[in-house]
Amino acid sequence: MSTTESGEESGVIRSVSRAGRSFPPPPAFAQKARLRDPAEYERLYRRSVDDPNGFWGDMAKSELAWTKPWTTVLSGEVPWVRWFDGGELNLSANCLDRHLATRGSKPAIIWEGEPGEERILTYAQLHAEVCQFAAVLKNLGVARGERVAIYMPMIPEAAVAMLACARIGAPHTVVFGGFSAEALRDRINDCEAKVCITSDGSYRRGKVIPLKANVDQALAHTPSVHSCVVVRRTGNEVTMKAGRDKWWHDVMEGQPTSTPAESLPAEHPLFILYTSGTTGKPKGIVHSTGGYLLGAHLTTKYIFDINDDDLYWCTADIGWVTGHSYVLYGPLSNGATTLMYEGAPDFPDKDRFWSIIARRKVTTFYTAPTAIRAFVRWGNEFPEKHDLSSLRLLGSVGEPINPEAWMWYHELVGRGRCPIVDTWWQTETGSIMLSPLPGITASKPGSCSIPFFGVVPEVVKRDGTKCGANEGGFLILRKPWPSMLRGIHGDPERYVKQYWSEIKGVYFTGDGSRCDEDNYFWVMGRVDDVLNVAGHRLGTAEIESALVSCPGVAEAAVVGPPHALKGQGICCFVTLKMGVVGNDAFKKQLSDHVVKEIGALARPDDIRFTDALPKTRSGKIMRRLLKEIATSGEAKGDTTTLEDLGVLSRLSAVREDEE
Ligand code: WT7
Repeated sequence: MSTTESGEESGVIRSVSRAGRSFPPPPAFAQKARLRDPAEYERLYRRSVDDPNGFWGDMAKSELAWTKPWTTVLSGEVPWVRWFDGGELNLSANCLDRHLATRGSKPAIIWEGEPGEERILTYAQLHAEVCQFAAVLKNLGVARGERVAIYMPMIPEAAVAMLACARIGAPHTVVFGGFSAEALRDRINDCEAKVCITSDGSYRRGKVIPLKANVDQALAHTPSVHSCVVVRRTGNEVTMKAGRDKWWHDVMEGQPTSTPAESLPAEHPLFILYTSGTTGKPKGIVHSTGGYLLGAHLTTKYIFDINDDDLYWCTADIGWVTGHSYVLYGPLSNGATTLMYEGAPDFPDKDRFWSIIARRKVTTFYTAPTAIRAFVRWGNEFPEKHDLSSLRLLGSVGEPINPEAWMWYHELVGRGRCPIVDTWWQTETGSIMLSPLPGITASKPGSCSIPFFGVVPEVVKRDGTKCGANEGGFLILRKPWPSMLRGIHGDPERYVKQYWSEIKGVYFTGDGSRCDEDNYFWVMGRVDDVLNVAGHRLGTAEIESALVSCPGVAEAAVVGPPHALKGQGICCFVTLKMGVVGNDAFKKQLSDHVVKEIGALARPDDIRFTDALPKTRSGKIMRRLLKEIATSGEAKGDTTTLEDLGVLSRLSAVREDEE
């Protein structure tokens, strides 16, 4: 795969001048949008910032169903704040029960399997299944507050399992099905889940991925798990461990379809979702019930401009926060219909997504730049052969979208009619923080534009002073918001240190950004040792510790040079123990080892053996120099703190030898 070919070179992009391009909301869209008056946005935003208690209190009251009213909107001081203290609600009741009277027979989930099957679950049917599975969890002895691990493909049962957990107040921890058995084991052990829910397998490009086999390996080393519920999806042979493993269809049989939704404190933990940080150990990000739901609900309503006749499709997997907030909770809380697709975008052919949009008349489509770059590369004929006229709004998330990909998305998918919302947020923020409002904001390709209600972003220098227009700096958020993380599971110190200590009293995002003369934000990427590979977050330290755990490896440093499709690639510099030979076979072995430890998403693009790594006099690896070498073949930057200057010329030479 060439890393230099861009859309422009392959001739698919019409040449458009880049400077100052701006796209106002298409009039036909703006006319019908929920928010279309800039003065109204201005008024709402000002109130959300000047009188957050009034604003969020009113929103929580009018938008969500509470079983007990709160006494205070915001209490405590950052980093330890509480929202809607004293209030009680249930997320599954907000997503299901409250819609039954008006939308009982409306589809809540339209599901398409990779082989082509369809399942439509109305709000009434989804409610019934969630009630049944909530009863199953209770029968298995899951008590309020106890964690449940979910390791499943994109099938309706995954949604049922998550909502059932929410119904009984058991925080779920969803582990993406692409993570390895080892990664699953570590996450289960960190949060001490009692139950694991999985399926026999999952379909990907026509092949069966044996999820249950991974679970079996993981559960051999997870003392907290006493039960495992298995959905039959692919029909492949699995081993069922007596006493521990049960089939989903068996345990669901005869369960009541009316399990009551527990009234839970607003701050009750809804889920723990693991994400990568700057150390080898993933962080279990904890989210609340009330504040989180309010964030997911309101952003879906205003940023996706959701309406009752929309068919909304977010292509994210439920294993990521985007899947939590924008496949499930945001759309269902709004009573919308959400589409779930199980498989790959290029199966059976490279037009699967466009075929789904055309056949099902999808109105709102939310995907990631890495996917868009793949579509660009596959060619225009795939979207062109389908009728995409049902679409009215497009979204992007996960990394900065390059203006070429933005233009392609706008023209080939949106056919020039659809606004694009480039949404910036993080696992930690729970819901979208920066985005255009599609009926109001003029979009600039590559910019995630302006803050959502209550969000006070700023680009600052190390010392916390504000950067000037277009000056690059650290992106921070100055005020707490309802869907913010409530901590890192089991590690309060790391929470304070990671997010609230770089600059006192403000939330540190870890992203670099600039803010232009129109107050539009342009996020540039991480400023810490975190990579963004195909929209997925991976810590360099995680990959390094996987490499170093391989016999023969002395030391490893991982960097993320630019990659045409994935945004960043994974380049590993490895030093070996005396007498160990660094050949291609060993490279393959190392690569497989990383996949085994973390999952296929972490497979290195490049492994380079070297006799030493560039270090500062205090022994810190200078990844910045390695990144330059991985990108351009040489290090031109400041090397004054480098301990052994000879290392650099040897490292650059390694590359020339190889090519
Ligand atoms: C990091 C968060 C929450 C969405 C999925 C990723 C990068 C995300 C954008 C965007 C530029 C973006 C940032 C952020 N990012 N969206 N629209 N423009 N960068 O969630 O795994 O928690 O990663 O993704 O670097 O910090 P995540």
